[in-house]
Amino acid sequence: MMDTLVVIGLGLIGGSFSLGLKQKAFKRVVGYDLNALHRERALSLGVVDEVIDTLPDLEALDGLDMVLLAVPVNAYKGVLSEIKPALLRRGENCILSDVGSVKGPLLNAANDVMGEVPSHWVMGHPIAGSEKHGPDAATPELFQRHKVILTPTETTDAVVLNKVVGLWRQLGANVETMSVKHHDHVLAQTSHLPHLLAYALVSDLSSQTDSRQIFHYAAGGFRDFTRIAASSPAMWHDIFFTNRDSLLDALSSYMDELNDFKTLLETGDSKTLLVKLSESRSARQYFQALLERKRLDQVSSEQAVTLVARSGGNVKGDIQVPGDKSISHRAIMLGALAEGVTDISGFLEGEDSLATLQAFRDMGVKIEGPDNGRVKVTGVGLNGLQAPDKPLYLGNSGTAMRLLAGLLSGQSFSSELMGDASLSSRPMKRVTVPLQSMGGQLKTESDGTPPIRITPSVNGLKGIQYELPMASAQVKSALLLAGLYSQDKTSITEPAPTRDHTERMLEGMGYAIEREGNSVSLVGGGRLQGIQLRVPGDISSAAFFLVAASITPGSDLWIRNVGVNPTRDGIIQLLRLMGGNVEIANNRFAGGEPVADLHVQHAPLKGIDIPEELVPLAIDEFPVLFIAAACAEGETTLTGAHELRVKESDRIQAMIDGLAAIGVEAQGTPDGAIIPGTKAGKESVFLGGEVNSLGDHRIAMAFAVASLRSQADIRILDCANVATSFPNFVLLANQVGLSIEPAEAIS
Ligand code: S3P
Repeated sequence: MMDTLVVIGLGLIGGSFSLGLKQKAFKRVVGYDLNALHRERALSLGVVDEVIDTLPDLEALDGLDMVLLAVPVNAYKGVLSEIKPALLRRGENCILSDVGSVKGPLLNAANDVMGEVPSHWVMGHPIAGSEKHGPDAATPELFQRHKVILTPTETTDAVVLNKVVGLWRQLGANVETMSVKHHDHVLAQTSHLPHLLAYALVSDLSSQTDSRQIFHYAAGGFRDFTRIAASSPAMWHDIFFTNRDSLLDALSSYMDELNDFKTLLETGDSKTLLVKLSESRSARQYFQALLERKRLDQVSSEQAVTLVARSGGNVKGDIQVPGDKSISHRAIMLGALAEGVTDISGFLEGEDSLATLQAFRDMGVKIEGPDNGRVKVTGVGLNGLQAPDKPLYLGNSGTAMRLLAGLLSGQSFSSELMGDASLSSRPMKRVTVPLQSMGGQLKTESDGTPPIRITPSVNGLKGIQYELPMASAQVKSALLLAGLYSQDKTSITEPAPTRDHTERMLEGMGYAIEREGNSVSLVGGGRLQGIQLRVPGDISSAAFFLVAASITPGSDLWIRNVGVNPTRDGIIQLLRLMGGNVEIANNRFAGGEPVADLHVQHAPLKGIDIPEELVPLAIDEFPVLFIAAACAEGETTLTGAHELRVKESDRIQAMIDGLAAIGVEAQGTPDGAIIPGTKAGKESVFLGGEVNSLGDHRIAMAFAVASLRSQADIRILDCANVATSFPNFVLLANQVGLSIEPAEAIS
């Protein structure tokens, strides 16, 4: 137990800190507040053991082990000047900490008054405020399960930092650390802006002539939205001014958004408005799931999103699709394992890659963003990850789970990987079995499905020479990531080339990779260097538009900045074999990956026998290729694609059933399908109707594309997961000429 804690500022936060640690971590708590009534009240409520009447009295106190500043941000400089003699007398023996909600100005105050930021000052910010204030509001439980952000600087003493972390944990808080700059930027968006908006709304409504009416009838929405406008004006005045620059940035971006909403209302664009509202709701539910560490499908039963794709239309325009999902996952993973910063642009802000990002935050990696596709990962080196304190939740993402299984097999801590309903039924033995033969300790459910529980390998991992039984980039990548932690060489041979983003990125980060024919190998124990990484547009997302334009007379579309890695370009090759008109222009390189602009125009398609060697190169594109095949003249056969049965859904069955529901009788086979095709020149191929996407993003988007050649609308059930890989699909699709809206719009 430490001796004396002095709390300066006996409001909600200072008082609660004191109550929670009094007689637990400190023998004595002494309080000070500028307001004499607060001092008396805190003493009589037992919030503190003693009070001092002036700050210079601090110098005479014995056993001073910690001072907590819990005053308004603008008061820091004055308070620091007054307590400076006491701080100097105790020197490094006294921990200094604070709870200010803006950190930059505190750095300045410290520099101005002390000439430096003392190494024993750990700046902190508990995210636990409320509209209540004063010592009466203080409670020892205030911080339980709340976040506390600590913002150590380069000079902060690690031992002191640990002590402060320990105190907050004792109060039940979840402690995170980040830089001062990042803290102020994030808080402007998540706290300061909402407070400003709440005050502004109340101010606007109360200045109107019928304000009494408004307040009289204002129900839940108004109350929820404006609760925080009852907070302390003096405190928020200070916060707004002290974090002015970041707040102004956040405010301008919000005003742009408001203007967009205003235009939608003015122009009566109900479809786009509904799409925006639906996307916001999905985003909120997703973050709620992350926050509560629940599966997305548990968060809300109103999750079921039905889309209605109107029949007809064609596709024209010049667009960009979001960043590549596979590359986005790897950028976070390898960025985290690198030394130094990896600065990512074009990152896919879809649910799958966000799940990976969150998993690495849960393992102590500092990740800033995503902010318009920009993400900054401060690498911790190959051995710098920290044990997560809960299972890592990976949502719908097979890539995240399988790659992490490899990476985590090499760690010295235990971990558990879990996912949503779809991921929880996908096969994991394809990674756990070879990883076990490298010495990895992994357990799945008895049928080989998640969760995967991983414990540290007993004697460390050893290299492996492995012939992949199936063409899988996920398995190859999992083994390469485990190989980074083995003493010797890991070699993997694949039956057919699969996407090589892991190899390219490892090389880009300075890791030696040997490639020979269909084999790739690396030797463990090397190092990765942080880099600047531009993620190209995802060809798997572009595929929906390539097919949409190909099957619809009159279509002409440019898709810019698409990754055209030869291990991913199967969709272009297959469409061309079918007679499609896809031009690849402006070939270039970005982030170690080939990139180009794609120009696609309508062309009459012909059915083909899909060459098996092209299957792995288009593995994610088959749902929409089934639609292309149904619109082609003559039959298309697919073989060698058993893998499609173990994707986010059984994609062969899901497509056969969906096609049948809209009037096309295709036939499934164990490893593929026979799709009958249509007669040349027939306008409507599909009758329309209702299909079930089974929560699989690519099935949902494929049937949306089918609407272009449908006689009647297509209702697509269970579409919330479109945000897995393509959060703005509906907006972009409507922009180029499809007509998709959530079912609520028309019910
Ligand atoms: C992926 C590989 C593919 C693909 C998935 C992403 C990757 O899976 O279907 O969407 O990023 O490595 P398999 O490697 O299992 O075929």
